Amino acid sequence: MAYETITLAVDNHVALVTLNRPDALNALNDVLMTELADALKGCQENEKVRCIVITGSEKAFAAGADIAMMKDKSFVDAFAGDLFTPETDQIMRVRKPIIAAVSGYALGGGCELAMMCDFIICSETAKFGQPEINLGVVAGIGGTQRLTRIVGKSKAMDMNLTGRFMDAEEAERSGLVSRVVPVKKLMEETMSAAQKIAEKSMVSVMVVKEAVNRAYEVPLREGLLFERRVFHSLFATEDQKEGMSAFLEKREAQFRDK
Ligand code: HXC
Repeated sequence: MAYETITLAVDNHVALVTLNRPDALNALNDVLMTELADALKGCQENEKVRCIVITGSEKAFAAGADIAMMKDKSFVDAFAGDLFTPETDQIMRVRKPIIAAVSGYALGGGCELAMMCDFIICSETAKFGQPEINLGVVAGIGGTQRLTRIVGKSKAMDMNLTGRFMDAEEAERSGLVSRVVPVKKLMEETMSAAQKIAEKSMVSVMVVKEAVNRAYEVPLREGLLFERRVFHSLFATEDQKEGMSAFLEKREAQFRDK
């Protein structure tokens, strides 16, 4: 599929998906969401891809769902059409790690898309927010749910009720992002993180993603048991033998995803 609103490049086992609607600050419309879901599905299926990065422009990761596209929708259009559900479901089905590289605005659906990724690295210019309240609506793809789990009730209420923006420093302090870097270093730092992940055993990488995500879904006792059992099960892999042998032989591990 040829894309109009995103670009996709795969290099050295890392897929870089760039949101590309500069005239609308990468606002998420139907076309962009369909293309993004399609690209991510392709990355999941492509054996050459071992880690995925989603980014936008220096000015905006994404300034939210496209307000022009939504303005005249009725309740039935939104509900029966299940606005954004198939695409977000598809994004959540990706088992390979996804990093969001955020510069500038990540607002509304843009902030929510970043939170759907496995972690966020942002530049010093990043601004996160859930300003839907200013439009007479509320967040619709995770702004009241994922944000609350990540930053806690007080900040999530503040962000969703006032619509104020959070800067990079506050986002790091609150645990929303894993690192803040200078704007010119954003892609270098993110691609280097992606590259490091791409060099690990894919089996362990996918297990980490499942296990950490499980921490949001199940009680601690169940999560700990799941973690222990997947830890035990990795002793069935060749990569465990290779990783531990390489350490003891003081050499780099050569993982084969077996
Ligand atoms: C459509 C958008 C847009 C959006 C910006 N643009 N955000 N178009 N949908 N979400 C367009 C503007 O209309 C403008 O087009 C161009 O991008 C540049 O934007 P400006 O406003 O001129 O830029 P600036 O003054 O720098 O302000 C940047 C901004 C502001 C602070 C990010 O654009 C803004 O507040 N945008 C809306 C943010 C928002 O409310 N997001 C939540 C959306 S609802 P023209 O043609 O005039 O140049 C949502 C719900 C998710 O996300 C749930 C889904 C189920």
